[in-house]
Amino acid sequence: MHILKKNENIKRATVCEVEEVVAKAESIRPTYYNLFGDAASRVSFRTTDIFDISNIPKSADTYMLKNIVHDWSDDQCDSLLQNISHVFDGNYEKRVLVVEKIVNTTKISPRTAGHDIVKCVLFDDQVKHRTLDSFSKMFLRNGFEVTKITPLLDTDYYAIEGKLLKRSRCRFQTTNLEHL
Ligand SMILES: C[S@@+](CC[C@H](N)C(=O)[O-])C[C@H]1O[C@@H](n2cnc3c(N)ncnc32)[C@H](O)[C@@H]1O
Repeated sequence: MHILKKNENIKRATVCEVEEVVAKAESIRPTYYNLFGDAASRVSFRTTDIFDISNIPKSADTYMLKNIVHDWSDDQCDSLLQNISHVFDGNYEKRVLVVEKIVNTTKISPRTAGHDIVKCVLFDDQVKHRTLDSFSKMFLRNGFEVTKITPLLDTDYYAIEGKLLKRSRCRFQTTNLEHL
């Protein structure tokens, strides 16, 4: 809703989530109108299993995975990205936006290291934050190329944009990564 409030050109967005989260989000919908005004009416919630290709909306032009990829192993992320690549159906203008921290192996913050240790213990040692190289390889093996990397304000998060890989296009662009 923040994104839609700041970007009038985005006509609508669908949040794909598990059933309990959708139910909770719908139950507090009036609060959103107070906070986001008209932008709230442009957002809908949809119960979705993001690993089930038949659940993934086909008509969107941008698919944002915010704080999702770090919860899954490489194999699971591959299925997720392959599902998205499938619904792109050869459209080179559609975008996937992975919003995540990017790990710099020479400068790992204690917070990120602690977070990953907890994940290894509770979940699976493949669940992790990733380096830029790891994101680029993940995109490539699932038919995407990284087309843009944007740092998000003063956070340690980045929006990593990907489009379907078209070998003739060489538009890799990085922005202000020195502080990684
Ligand atoms: C770390 S949270 C991120 C939530 C939100 N995107 C954000 O950035 O605040 C991961 C979310 O993935 C959802 N999730 C887990 N498995 C899912 C699935 N198979 N299909 C859809 N959503 C799922 C969880 O309910 C949880 O809200």
